[in-house]
Amino acid sequence: MKINVGIIGAGRMAASHINTLKKIDNVKIVSICDIVENKAKEKALEVGADFYKDYKIMMDKNKLDAVWICTPANIHSENIEFCIKKDIPFFVEKPVGINEIEIKKIAVKLAKKRLINAVGYQLRYDPAVENLKQILKEEEIIFTIAEWFWTIPLVDSIKSKENAGGQIIDQATHLIDLLRYLVGDIKSVYTSGVKGFFPEDRIYTGDDASGTILTFKNGISGVLVCTYALFPEISRYYPSHIKFISKRKLIQYVNSQRIMIFKSDKYEEFLYKDVDLTYQEDKAFIDAVVNNNSSYIKYDYFEGMKTIKICLACNKSMEKNLKYNIK
Ligand SMILES: NC(=O)c1ccc[n+]([C@@H]2O[C@H](COP(=O)([O-])OP(=O)(O)OC[C@H]3O[C@@H](n4cnc5c(N)ncnc54)[C@H](O)[C@@H]3O)[C@@H](O)[C@H]2O)c1
Repeated sequence: MKINVGIIGAGRMAASHINTLKKIDNVKIVSICDIVENKAKEKALEVGADFYKDYKIMMDKNKLDAVWICTPANIHSENIEFCIKKDIPFFVEKPVGINEIEIKKIAVKLAKKRLINAVGYQLRYDPAVENLKQILKEEEIIFTIAEWFWTIPLVDSIKSKENAGGQIIDQATHLIDLLRYLVGDIKSVYTSGVKGFFPEDRIYTGDDASGTILTFKNGISGVLVCTYALFPEISRYYPSHIKFISKRKLIQYVNSQRIMIFKSDKYEEFLYKDVDLTYQEDKAFIDAVVNNNSSYIKYDYFEGMKTIKICLACNKSMEKNLKYNIK
């Protein structure tokens, strides 16, 4: 069965998904849309697709079996809502949205339709994460430390906190998600942040650094430290990671690359290389569409909603200087 795919948004992530979809046999990218027509045209020429400026026209004119939503975060809710209206399965890049009211409204519509959908939290497909989950099952975790250090986003659409949600929603959301998956549900967050150190970058409205105290329902505590105050190469020298402290043992997960276990008498290291996580998540979604069976998908809208609720609470906490209980 051939799956006719449409892409909304023709930026960086669209390029990554287009390259991946080219490797999946039964997929044909038939149409690509971007409000900047030339971007849509350039990508469309690459794969022999039609191009559009308006995604609604694209979805009205083409009989699509699946849509990839690769627009900035503040557009996701309206894109998803239209997919639900047209009954078209969708893969949306993370986050599911940035406005809690819209996110909830869509969840109600989606639950009624039970449309196949997936969200781009690719680390849930990471074999290292699965191994880590097994390792942590045997441990009594006491505390966890997660860090994501980077630079002011290189893409303009992500520089604006109003549009992209800021570093916690845009980037550290992956870590918050893994913490939920590996440690458990989060009970409360208290976030403090600093901003305004980069007045020379006039488009940038995000925070320069933030620290969040996380309390999990199972009694474990943790901290999340984020900064955009550094430089692009920092992710090479100091990749994002999560440390887990248990009794006389330190376990560290380094984003898709390695797990390190430190004990008084032993150091163990597990290395993971060359797993194409975008391929894993895209293939899972295509398999789900082909077989009309969501069980192929490891991450859907409702899961994404739980993660983004925590991220939004961090932002509110930072704004109001208050601890937020997660309801
Ligand atoms: N999973 C990951 O690790 C990961 C990594 C980076 C970005 N992302 C997410 O991917 C999404 C896109 O990010 P990006 O880096 O590709 O951004 P980008 O700015 O490169 O691309 C977004 C594109 O959407 C277009 N666009 C904006 N509004 C539109 C609309 N109404 N209709 C059609 N096109 C529209 C823009 O012109 C732009 O070309 C964001 O949600 C981001 O958080 C995910």
